[in-house]
Parts: sequence; structure tokens; C-alpha cells
Amino acid sequence: MSSLTIRNNENNQHKLIAYLPSWVYRLVAVEAFCSTNGGKMAESTTNDFLILLSDLAAAIGITNQALHKYVKSNGFETLLSTNRAYVTAETARRVMTERGFQYKQQVVSLQMLKGGVAKTTTAMNIGLRANMYGTRVLLVDLDQQANLSFAFGIEDPNALVWVDVIEGKTPIENTIRKVSPTLHIIPSNLNNSMLDRILLNGKRNVATGVSQYLSPIRDRYDLIILDTAPNLSAINTAASCASETVILPVNPDKFSFAGLTKTLDDLGKIKSEFGGSFEPKILFTKFDGRETSSHELLKMCMVNFGSQMMKTFIRTSTEVKNTIRTGKTIFEHKSNAKDDYDLVTRELIGMTS
Ligand SMILES: Nc1ncnc2c1ncn2[C@@H]1O[C@H](COP(=O)(O)OP(=O)(O)OP(=O)(O)O)[C@@H](O)[C@H]1O
Ligand SMILES: [Mg+2]
Repeated sequence: MSSLTIRNNENNQHKLIAYLPSWVYRLVAVEAFCSTNGGKMAESTTNDFLILLSDLAAAIGITNQALHKYVKSNGFETLLSTNRAYVTAETARRVMTERGFQYKQQVVSLQMLKGGVAKTTTAMNIGLRANMYGTRVLLVDLDQQANLSFAFGIEDPNALVWVDVIEGKTPIENTIRKVSPTLHIIPSNLNNSMLDRILLNGKRNVATGVSQYLSPIRDRYDLIILDTAPNLSAINTAASCASETVILPVNPDKFSFAGLTKTLDDLGKIKSEFGGSFEPKILFTKFDGRETSSHELLKMCMVNFGSQMMKTFIRTSTEVKNTIRTGKTIFEHKSNAKDDYDLVTRELIGMTS
């Protein structure tokens, strides 16, 4: 069992907190919340919210030693496990900010008519990784299947969810669960299956069914990620209109390609009807280099929608497959899954040119 120590460089005190990195950060997060949130914290099965110091160094283009020295001389916190050093999202933010990085404010939604294309997986992993780089993240689960909420350990039929906000039953602040100090989630449950009926029957403005309710908390976050159900619904229209970017995951199969064409068509109609300023971005997922269908479909996407594709694509992997079910991070150990989602995240938050 490896022990993990919080090193406070300012007064050189070493405090033994627990025995596994995952446990430790949860405790650190709880400690942090005790002072700011009345001690409340969402139970999460996703424990690892720390970034390896070596990953942060590589991303900003300096050596591990240089980053160590920089962190130490500025009195920032490092967390040590056997031979591995980590920093918290807050420390990453301070390092990035001091090096001139500016966190942009953006709302991003994951949408696709076809189910099972990795919308939720992508929302989760981009949210986690962006947060590790210091981004203040809010995940919003708008899908009544609530898979994103489950991935963070929230399975609560009585939770306050988006439908309660638009019905005026609660201010949006009451729906927010804190997974870590700067990674928050608005969960979902079956009550959200009423979203479309309420949006359409209540003479509400569909286009602002997400944006108007986000506005009171907009400035608290850099990145708001909306995970949606696989359909062309009123709530998905509202999610598009609230977004700067709509990420459209597509898989290497013909149905997925057909779903992409239909979803893009629908987004075009939403733009002309409601005047949203969102940009659709296609993310190819579950790419399998051994299968011809993967190569063919990727080529087809590039030929037909080249300029709308994200620069990275996500390879198929068992690490990703397990991520939602087990709630385990893919960013702890080296893998294709880690590399792919790291690159997509950096592209989205502007860490790559
Ligand atoms: N890169 C990948 N490699 C292997 N499996 C993957 C990958 N990405 C996602 N999966 C798996 O595909 C399945 C569907 O993923 P996910 O739930 O994220 O899709 P979704 O689009 O959100 O589905 P839904 O439309 O039902 O909401 C899950 O079992 C997930 O683990
Ligand atoms: Mg999903």
C-alpha cells in the first residue's frame, strides 16, 4: 500500500492523510469544503481529481524538475505518492495563470441522435481533465437516463434536477453538487423526462430553456458541459442555443454516420429558426485501427465534414469502456484513452494552437 503525504511548502509541515491517492484527494476535498460548504460534499466514486506533476509539466512544455522548483518556490502544494507527485486543480490553475494562460468561458454540449456513441463518456472525461488543468467546471446532466450522474456516484430519485429549475421550484444554486472544489455537477434523474412537455406546453421560450437559467451562475465556471439524451428534443434545442460548441460524437458505423447527417441538419434548422451562435464539432470515437470500417468512416467524415472535425479522434479501449461503470479515472496511468482525451480536452480549452 502506498502512503501519500500532503506537503505544505510554506511551513514545511508534512501531514499523513491516508493510504491511497484516490482516498486522499477525497479527504482533501472534504477538508476544503468544510470551510466553504458547511462540510457537505457529494459522494463520488470518481476519486482521482489530481493531475500528475509530470503531465502538467509536459503540457506546459517544461521539465519536471523545473515545475517542481517553481511549485516549491511559490509555496504551492504538492501531493506525493510512491515516486509520483501530483498537484491539485487549484495549484494547476495558479501555475497556468502565472504562465499567462487565460481560461475561456464556454458552454459545450454533447449531442447525437444515435445512442451509445460516447456522449456521456466524453462529457465526463473532458470535464475531469479540464478540471485537472485548473478549469472551473460544471457538468449538467440533462439526460433522464442519468448516466453521467451515476458515474459520479449520484443515484437519487429525489435530487433537484433541471426540470425543477425551469418549473421555478428551486433556484439553480440548489441543484449543484460539489464533486471536488472546482468540479461541480447538476445531476439528473427520471423527473427530467418531463423536460420537453414543460418546455413546450408552458409557453416558455424553448431557445432560452437552458441559457436563461444558467446565467446567474455563469461567471462561477470557465467550462459548462451539457450532457444530453440521444434525440432531437426541445431540451436539446435549448442546449444547442446555450452552447458555444456542440460536440457531435460519431462511431465507425453507418447508422452513426446517418445520425450525424440528421443531427447536423437539425442544428442548421435550429440556427436559422432561433439564431444560436454555436459551432458544431464532430468527434470521432471508438476508432479501431484494426477494422476497415473505422478507416472508411473516418475518411468519409473527413471528406464530407473536414473543417468541422475536431483535430483528435478517440480510439476504442477497455480503459474507456470501464470508466462510467466503475467511475475510475483514465488519467492515472499511461494509455491511448488518456492520451486521446487529454488532447481533445486541450484542444477544447485552448491549450493547443
Ligand atoms: N473509446 C471507447 N472505447 C470503448 N468503449 C467506449 C468508448 N467510448 C465509450 N465507450 C462505451 O460505449 C458505451 C456508450 O457510451 P456512452 O454511455 O458514453 O454513450 P452515450 O452516447 O452517452 O449513450 P446514450 O446515447 O445512451 O446516452 C459505454 O459502454 C462506454 O463505456
Ligand atoms: Mg449518455
